Amino acid sequence: MMTGAARDYDLSDAEFSRLRGLVYKHTGIALSDAKRELVYGRLSKRLRSLGMSSFSEYCGMLEGAPSDELQELTNAITTNLTSFFREKHHFEQLAAEVLPPMQRAADNRRRLRVWSAGCSTGEEPYSIAITLREALAASRDWDVKLLATDIDSKVVATAQAGSYRSDRFKGMSADRVKRWFPSPAGQPDQGVASPELKSLITFRQLNLLNPWPMKGPFDVIFCRNVVIYFDKETQRTLFERMAALQKPGGWLFIGHSENLFNVSQRYKLEGRTAYRRMA
Ligand SMILES: C[S@@+](CC[C@H](N)C(=O)[O-])C[C@H]1O[C@@H](n2cnc3c(N)ncnc32)[C@H](O)[C@@H]1O
Repeated sequence: MMTGAARDYDLSDAEFSRLRGLVYKHTGIALSDAKRELVYGRLSKRLRSLGMSSFSEYCGMLEGAPSDELQELTNAITTNLTSFFREKHHFEQLAAEVLPPMQRAADNRRRLRVWSAGCSTGEEPYSIAITLREALAASRDWDVKLLATDIDSKVVATAQAGSYRSDRFKGMSADRVKRWFPSPAGQPDQGVASPELKSLITFRQLNLLNPWPMKGPFDVIFCRNVVIYFDKETQRTLFERMAALQKPGGWLFIGHSENLFNVSQRYKLEGRTAYRRMA
């Protein structure tokens, strides 16, 4: 049972366990006991707005006929922390090691496909798009497409809008911000992704556990700070499916506290949390 000050609801062990099961089944996110307070805090708001009297009633609704509430549950539970050029070594590696050999290749296809899987509010795919636009500045004729997906419908909408308060641009030089996120007239504290940047990216809501509509191949996949919430079995299945969407040599970037040890033998380490698909 929960302890502490009086609360609007009780969250019993049995109810927490039911919620945990639902979240795991629908998102792959394995909630630890340490997340109990967070779950209470985020979901009690949902109960209040639905006019419900207990977590049991809420679980009953989620376990019943399919409803939009599953998406609300997902949006409430996901952790969306992100920033522009987070783990910047990946963007440096993309510009210095991934693109030049492709540009030099005799069979240069001038085609690049990138997937930001678990893109949150968009800072990651926009950082990739900036890196690509700057590194390929002299290669305007390249066919570049970036797919950015997340399970959380709210963050995908934010990413698609591409409008950020200026304090979000901490990881970027003033020149970059000015070039890629100009401020709308009369809104100096806001920056909106330039049409050139936006035109590279397709944003979609996608649960990584569900079937994927895309066929690949992807030259580069960013799946960073997403699988940290998944158990090993879910991670194994996920990277097996990603490997199937890449050709040998394709790149995969994962988060700073993640690794593929005991998870996938389809990729070889090529730097800090950077991998390439093996033959
Ligand atoms: C911590 S953010 C990481 C954002 C970005 N990749 C980065 O590294 O800055 C993790 C994201 O993974 C998403 N996510 C969690 N489970 C997912 C799933 N089953 N399918 C797709 N996205 C998922 C969350 O909604 C969240 O936006």
